[in-house]
Amino acid sequence: MHIILLGTPGAGKGTQAQLIMGNYGIPQISTGDMLRAEVKSDSALGQQLKTVLEAGELVSDDLILQIVESRLRKTDCANGFILDGFPRTTPQAEGLDIILGKIENLNLKAIEISVPDEAVIRRLSARRICAGCGKIVMPQESTPKKCDDCGGDLIQRDDDKEETIRHRLDIFKESTAPLINFYREKGVYHKVNGLQTVDAVFADIERIIK
Ligand code: AP5
Ligand code: MG
Repeated sequence: MHIILLGTPGAGKGTQAQLIMGNYGIPQISTGDMLRAEVKSDSALGQQLKTVLEAGELVSDDLILQIVESRLRKTDCANGFILDGFPRTTPQAEGLDIILGKIENLNLKAIEISVPDEAVIRRLSARRICAGCGKIVMPQESTPKKCDDCGGDLIQRDDDKEETIRHRLDIFKESTAPLINFYREKGVYHKVNGLQTVDAVFADIERIIK
């Protein structure tokens, strides 16, 4: 099972990747989470990345391809993986083709979770994530302050400010949306309506991947 989750910021890629991982035992590979971990480590690279992420800009294709290639070589990817937030540009998709070219019996599905911009802005302005384990918490009327899995603090992402969200949406349209055609031409593109409940989106994804 080799899954690419495409979709605008806030479409629910991370939420669905965590569900697929929990139900099918294949790892979620979120380039955003890996980059945020580097920022948190406060390394020299992390300090450079912090500025890029906070501005909602894209990190260079070369660096992203290096990070993903070494992650995909780990043994837990032997039976498949869920790519969340990668590829995001045509050079990244072409680079991924080269990396995946070495895998036998490749069963690739590129699934776009589609959500309109205004819903994205509402969702991301309300989103909280756990600073400890990274769990994404569904916003509720009284969102708790601590993660119910690990007790970590629930925080807002630095790039979840309305102006930055709009900029990320523009970058998606410019750089990532062309990948829809890239995967459609390969015959592996699927689209699900991301405006449904989390469970209904997951049920649609399961119909595609089973
Ligand atoms: P990344 O972390 O990948 O962020 P993103 O693509 O902007 O997407 P998000 O994580 O914001 O949203 P999501 O689709 O995962 O939604 P979620 O499930 O959280 O990237 C961050 C940055 O890193 C980039 O801007 C860039 O700088 C850099 N980067 C990363 N990858 C890169 C790459 N390949 N190349 C270059 N740079 C890269 O859900 C959102 C909210 O909605 C949550 O609160 C959730 O609870 C809620 N929600 C989810 N589903 C539903 C539903 N069905 N109904 C109601 N609410 C829902
Ligand atoms: Mg995410």
